[in-house]
Amino acid sequence: MIVDKLGRRFKNLRVSLTAACNYACTYCVPNGKRLLKAENELSADALLKLTQLIQSAAGIEQLRITGGDPLVTPKFDEFLLGVAALPLKDFSLTTNGQLLLNKAEVIKASGIQRMNISLDTLNPLRFKQIARGGDLETVLQGMERMQSFGIKLKVNMVPMRSSNQEDILPLLDYCLDRGIELRYIELMRMGHLTQGNAYQTDFLSMQHLLDEIGRQYRFERTDAPFDSTAVRFHIPGRGYFGIIANESEPFCTACTRLRLSSDGYLYGCLSNSARTYIGDLVSLPGHIALPKLQKILLSALGHKRLAFQGETTVMKFIGG
Ligand code: 5AD
Repeated sequence: MIVDKLGRRFKNLRVSLTAACNYACTYCVPNGKRLLKAENELSADALLKLTQLIQSAAGIEQLRITGGDPLVTPKFDEFLLGVAALPLKDFSLTTNGQLLLNKAEVIKASGIQRMNISLDTLNPLRFKQIARGGDLETVLQGMERMQSFGIKLKVNMVPMRSSNQEDILPLLDYCLDRGIELRYIELMRMGHLTQGNAYQTDFLSMQHLLDEIGRQYRFERTDAPFDSTAVRFHIPGRGYFGIIANESEPFCTACTRLRLSSDGYLYGCLSNSARTYIGDLVSLPGHIALPKLQKILLSALGHKRLAFQGETTVMKFIGG
């Protein structure tokens, strides 16, 4: 087992199926242009083979499929069903939800139990301004369909001072009414947000969110699993919500995440652009590929930082 000085090891693999996305969210892309796929994206089959290899080398227990948006690529069906067949404790998916209705059948067939939907507002106008693509009603219908399959949903919201502050409480109510756990994600200094002052202007802290929520609800902090990224709160009689407090309460010392990008690079840390290409391991026999990968994993673990310090890499490549 590969473990670092803090006892951190890789348990949780996130595979970005494609860098392409049908949205152009303000915090992810600077110019409103839709994201295209990366230049040399790997096939579903190659990504599955790498996933299996990483699983045997690192003892991965959980897998999350991310993007870009993973539902926009034709690789989605094959990869999802392939992952469903792997001996994992748990697998899940992060999507903007725009294509859930189109992909409902394969999603149901995969037996997936959990899913995170990125949704920053319930206001159609603000939705267009932030996502710069897609349609709100289609997302909400897709979420309903997923819930009808018994899939547990979380919603990811990135609250920003200049755009969706007004949605902090309405989105919480919406989620609580439907048994969905809302996770507010503190804005991260990534990609274009490392330049200019948009980050400083828009950042809303955990305390700010709690003050806002406290105007309507009484809540208490609850325990979260050791390697959870969220600080969790319980509103008695109503449900739970969480805050991913990258800045206010960094969780890096308990991080178990490892990321594989759609073009075959391994990233040990979201706050470090250091990466290693492993796409070439697919064509090697297992007894040669495995020791090579173990070395790479050791150095990837060394890339983990102790706090999120901002990075020029963007979510579209490493999927959050
Ligand atoms: N800061 C915070 N959250 C972000 N996401 C993407 N970019 C940022 C950022 N700069 C969110 C997406 C998605 C999750 C994986 O990360 O909205 O829900």
